[in-house]
Amino acid sequence: MKRNILTIILLVTCNISSFSQTRQPLYKDKNAPIEDRIENLLGLMTLDEKIKQMNQWTYGQNANPNNIGDKMKAVSPLIGSLLYRSTHPEYRNQIQKKAMEESRLGIPIIFGFDCIHGYRTIFPISLAQACSWNTDLVKKSCEISAKESWLSGLDWTFSPMLDVARDARWGRVSEGYGEDSYATSQFAIAAVNGYQGANLADKYTIAACLKHYVGYSLSEGGRDYHYSDVSMQTLWETFLPPFEAGIKAGAATVMSGFNDISGVPASANHYTLTEILKEKWNHDGFVISDWGSVRNLVEQGVAKDKKEAGMKSFLAGVEMDMVDDVYVDYLPELVAEGKISMTAIDEAVRRILRVKMQLGLFENPYVDVVSEENRYLLPEYLEVAEQLASESMVLLKNDNQTLPISSKYKNLAIIGPMAKDSINIMGSWEGMGRPEDVETIYEGLEKEFKNKADLHYAKGCDFDGDDRNGFSEALKAAEKSDVVIVFLGEKKNWSGENGSRSSIALPKIQEDLVEELLKAKKPIILVLSSGRPLELIRLNKLADAVVEIWQPGTMAGSAVAGILSGRHNPSGKLSITFPQSTGQIPIYYNMRESARPTLGHYQDIPRDPLYWFGHGLSYTTYEYSNIKLSSTQIKRSETLTAEVEVTNSGDIDGKEAVLWFIKDPVATISRPMKELQFFDKKFIKAGEKAIYRFEIDPMRDLSYVDSFGKKHLEAGDYFVIVNEQKISFQIID
Ligand code: NOJ
Repeated sequence: MKRNILTIILLVTCNISSFSQTRQPLYKDKNAPIEDRIENLLGLMTLDEKIKQMNQWTYGQNANPNNIGDKMKAVSPLIGSLLYRSTHPEYRNQIQKKAMEESRLGIPIIFGFDCIHGYRTIFPISLAQACSWNTDLVKKSCEISAKESWLSGLDWTFSPMLDVARDARWGRVSEGYGEDSYATSQFAIAAVNGYQGANLADKYTIAACLKHYVGYSLSEGGRDYHYSDVSMQTLWETFLPPFEAGIKAGAATVMSGFNDISGVPASANHYTLTEILKEKWNHDGFVISDWGSVRNLVEQGVAKDKKEAGMKSFLAGVEMDMVDDVYVDYLPELVAEGKISMTAIDEAVRRILRVKMQLGLFENPYVDVVSEENRYLLPEYLEVAEQLASESMVLLKNDNQTLPISSKYKNLAIIGPMAKDSINIMGSWEGMGRPEDVETIYEGLEKEFKNKADLHYAKGCDFDGDDRNGFSEALKAAEKSDVVIVFLGEKKNWSGENGSRSSIALPKIQEDLVEELLKAKKPIILVLSSGRPLELIRLNKLADAVVEIWQPGTMAGSAVAGILSGRHNPSGKLSITFPQSTGQIPIYYNMRESARPTLGHYQDIPRDPLYWFGHGLSYTTYEYSNIKLSSTQIKRSETLTAEVEVTNSGDIDGKEAVLWFIKDPVATISRPMKELQFFDKKFIKAGEKAIYRFEIDPMRDLSYVDSFGKKHLEAGDYFVIVNEQKISFQIID
């Protein structure tokens, strides 16, 4: 006891003396070790100052109507974080100046915002980005977002979203990287590296936030914010790996979800937030709740009031409360009542301060102020945006080589509500993107086909409703053209947050328009822009060619026009399966085999989906040959190399993504039909070939995880599958 009192006196005197004697307290010394600085600062902070670090307020309004916060006029200098919905670096610097100069200890604020697929230069939605299979490009897009947003006053983005898609009715499939856990992990690493750079303290880098931790995409029936029944097996096998990959890549923060994990909400889940994230993976950054997900514990029926919600969330491992004010309102009482210890408060604040220190905010609290012309939409950014958009687009069908548009076609009918759209084409969560920045598809086509073909435009119909008055004009345009290109799709708020739909088909009016255009008896090219896979069971057979362009963003026009003209050779492959119809959901490539594989399917639709994960055509042809393994028998500790030769046998240069799958036909637990374990994309000139290699590490690539997170590698037969060709090998004891 005496020793404890002595230690406290010593600590206090040390802290006071470090404050008064040197004038500059240790925590302000940028050369001192971060952990020492944090301890020094913690020792100086009052409980009130600590708790304010754990709250995020909003500045301005969030574009998402579900998240409208109070406009913050007078920002207190004492706050921990701001959700900063302004593009002005000057305001940020003013607010930060208040925090640095008017608060007792001068602790900088961390400014965050959602740049999901771009800040002002808008890239394709994440679901589309994954179809590019190009992690370098995705990383570049995140570097650009980081730069644009840092120069607009941000330190932090709530991205990447790592919820593995399971139900296309759920609007938020647009925000993630598709239905595969391994692919999501690879894009998670690319995004974290892109945002955070080599050193978070560098200019133009921002902290990443992995979300929504964890299992949110299993919301029942695809209804947003709903209950999710996540088995421990699925948690470990499907949902946790992308987060683990993002944490290993160094992600500074994590956001806890709105969902339940089999009865325990994600924002009050000690197992996932503390036992896995902090104790097993040693994450030393902090967790922020989702918008209101602390107070939502009351609606979810695990807390009787906000105070209990705050206590549960905090004790589970959520360090920062987004926008709710629950922590500021109730943590002081909870500490006074002994329900939350000071040690726990200190540990939470320590984590927040650590990220602020890593960002270098104490010594460099302000961002540079440069003109908007030098900040946004720079030519090199637009180049990346066009490349990523074009590589994301997936040529689903191309009968009789309808595409690319032949030079003999001199009249092109350009029909449909998406052709001149500049809003929906950006998708949801469009950051600070503006419609006037967007090059519409029509503008792109005008440029692309200038002096080569005449465009005959008619909107035809709206995205929904039942007004068929535009049909006759559209048919006339089709009749005087050689080919009919129809631009259909979804409005931006049909996907994204709170964007669930009971049917993933396009509204009937859009399908009817295509039926009407058939009367012209011209080749029909369908160009679809959506935030999810669509039900194409009726439309697909009406068209000669179908391209899914997703929501391509700022450079939509050039990217789409380039794909249609052949300037860009399509190289996208689906990151998510297109079911035959909505009723076929859930359907994904790595399902488990059924007990009676040939039976039990829906009787009214074909057994397989319309387009599987991995499907995507090109204007050239690729031949896969000489598939070989370095050995057909290995021990658990040995590695193995799989190799395939891919020849571009057509006459157009192209990029080919090779997807390597593993199948374990017999194991202690049933395994997925096949699992993606590696992918690689290369440029191959027409007539040339490239060798693709997959270095197999058995523990990493062949093992399965059990429902406690333990990996098992069993002896026996395995298959490597590439381009539907299987080759077998064995693990021996
Ligand atoms: C709610 C969304 O679920 C989340 O993804 C987003 O980051 C926050 N709002 C902040 O805008």
